[in-house]
Amino acid sequence: MTSRVGTLTLVGCGAMGSALLRGWLNAEVAKEYWVVAPDRTAVQPFLEESNRVQWYANPEGLPEAVTTLVIALKPFVLSDVLPLYKSVITPESLVVSVATGKPLHFYKGILNHEVIRAMPNTPVSVNRGVIGLLAEDSARECWESQVEAVFGPLGLTTWVSSEDVLNQVTALSGSGPAYVFYMIEAMAAAGAKHGLSKEQAYEMALYTMAGTGVYALDSGTSARQLRESVTSPQGTTEQALKVLMANDGIGPLMEKAIEAAYERAKELAK
Ligand SMILES: NC(=O)c1ccc[n+]([C@@H]2O[C@H](COP(=O)([O-])OP(=O)(O)OC[C@H]3O[C@@H](n4cnc5c(N)ncnc54)[C@H](OP(=O)(O)O)[C@@H]3O)[C@@H](O)[C@H]2O)c1
Repeated sequence: MTSRVGTLTLVGCGAMGSALLRGWLNAEVAKEYWVVAPDRTAVQPFLEESNRVQWYANPEGLPEAVTTLVIALKPFVLSDVLPLYKSVITPESLVVSVATGKPLHFYKGILNHEVIRAMPNTPVSVNRGVIGLLAEDSARECWESQVEAVFGPLGLTTWVSSEDVLNQVTALSGSGPAYVFYMIEAMAAAGAKHGLSKEQAYEMALYTMAGTGVYALDSGTSARQLRESVTSPQGTTEQALKVLMANDGIGPLMEKAIEAAYERAKELAK
């Protein structure tokens, strides 16, 4: 596979930064990765694995101006940290932030440079992520193909039209892996009630969730059709679905959960 971009600079190597880096390394997206992180230990596993990854404690140490900069920092540190990057970006640099909430004009106000917002989720680390994208029209025109080269190999990219819709992406797919993890936990706990060991029930729940996701993706058939095809009249699945699809079942609960995440994303924008 050929590398699609030259040097990719990543700021922050926590849960999301390391998931992105793992996905980029898997797909050989860049020739070289410069990772800026205060703590070398966060980057160490990647340094051991690939001679393409270099670690920098701060932006002053970077060898030259950056061509592609991806910021994976918590929103509350951005006001202090972003000004340090003014001297390493050029008018041609692609700058992407994956931080939750902060709107495009926030970045432009600090950097005096158009920034593209991306909302990935952690399955980018296995190149099966969802990445919502938002940019001003002029920035999208300028950098869309470069953004696709960087994020496309990580999963499904979806451009949205407003900050508000990106907050909905945050609530659905950005936070979504945690909902799925919790469903695995809940299925495992329920499955262990009648004789299966906790370990057996956990593995069965995990494989059921993972296998069903891959099966649904590969089949090209809607989830509804797939569900109906495995629900025989008067069978066991039908009995369980009566509970899950009741008025107090998963549908209304999921709506409430996603609404709560969406409200929080809006608060983080302030
Ligand atoms: N996690 C997700 O599933 C997810 C999904 C979508 C979007 N996001 C967004 O992604 C961003 C990062 O989230 P996260 O979960 O990865 O948080 P995280 O695990 O706390 O990672 C942030 C990392 O940035 C480091 N850092 C702090 N100051 C820095 C600086 N000046 N320069 C370079 N690195 C610095 C932190 O190091 P220390 O720990 O040493 O301070 C930490 O390792 C957030 O804005 C979040 O909203 C996350």
